[in-house]
Amino acid sequence: PTIYAITPTFARPVQKAELTRLYQTFLHIPNFHWIVVEDSEIKTKLVTRFFENSSIIYTHIAAATPPNYKLGRNDPNWKKPRGVEQRNAALRWLREYLKVTDRGIVYFADDDNTYSIKLFHEMEKIQKVGVWPVGLVGGLMVEKPICDNVTNKVIGFNAAWKPDRPFPLDMAGFAMNARLLLENKEAMFSYDVEGGYQESEILRHIVSRDELEPLADCCTKVYVWHTRTEPPQLNVEQLLIKKGKRSNVGIEV
Ligand code: UGA
Ligand code: MN
Repeated sequence: PTIYAITPTFARPVQKAELTRLYQTFLHIPNFHWIVVEDSEIKTKLVTRFFENSSIIYTHIAAATPPNYKLGRNDPNWKKPRGVEQRNAALRWLREYLKVTDRGIVYFADDDNTYSIKLFHEMEKIQKVGVWPVGLVGGLMVEKPICDNVTNKVIGFNAAWKPDRPFPLDMAGFAMNARLLLENKEAMFSYDVEGGYQESEILRHIVSRDELEPLADCCTKVYVWHTRTEPPQLNVEQLLIKKGKRSNVGIEV
């Protein structure tokens, strides 16, 4: 099956670096379709050029987060959900597209995480919803479904952050059969849920906890890390900009 990876992304100094890192991982995956959704009113030149110079199957969409839901410059990042508008736009696109194509697997791949190629091989086994450990998230070295190695079933979760969530998983910790999106039209993300409940919000429409399929050797292997890129120090650049200059005139970074 084709793996559809949905990636929200937004303009910032590290954007091209993030997309390049993901791109070079995804190039290794056969039958891969990258859906990149910019948090922007328009498709930007940077991302458009990025794909023009790429050799990957992709869909490029723009869907801006409404201003009242956008994080302010000094807001802590847990204040508002990120990626809601973008992932929903991708789901709308995908639900149309799936009518004319074959089966697939859908994964939400944020632009700052680190993905092992092995993760995508695991996804090929998915019947409904596959789950696996995610490294460096939720205040832990690893957050993972607890897998019974006799029955190969998910019997709990080790999450420390909001463990009472219906599905205490990070966005990077599951992927689903695309068919479930067509069968469950109401499955999407929402601004009307508590912080950290986006994963539970979509999953509650498509699967029950006892149907989850543990992957990555009964959830004993880490194939994805919730890395977060540090904002670069651009203090000298700021001084240049004040003087009407820039280091990056005529050169895209
Ligand atoms: C955690 C989860 O891993 C995310 O999947 C979840 O969306 C987020 O929390 C949340 O609670 O909303 P975190 O690392 O804090 O992740 O989130 P980011 O990586 O900053 O953002 C998630 C995605 O949204 C990224 O692909 C990012 O590029 C995108 N984003 C972020 C936007 O499109 N617009 C923004 O203004 C900010
Ligand atoms: Mn992130």
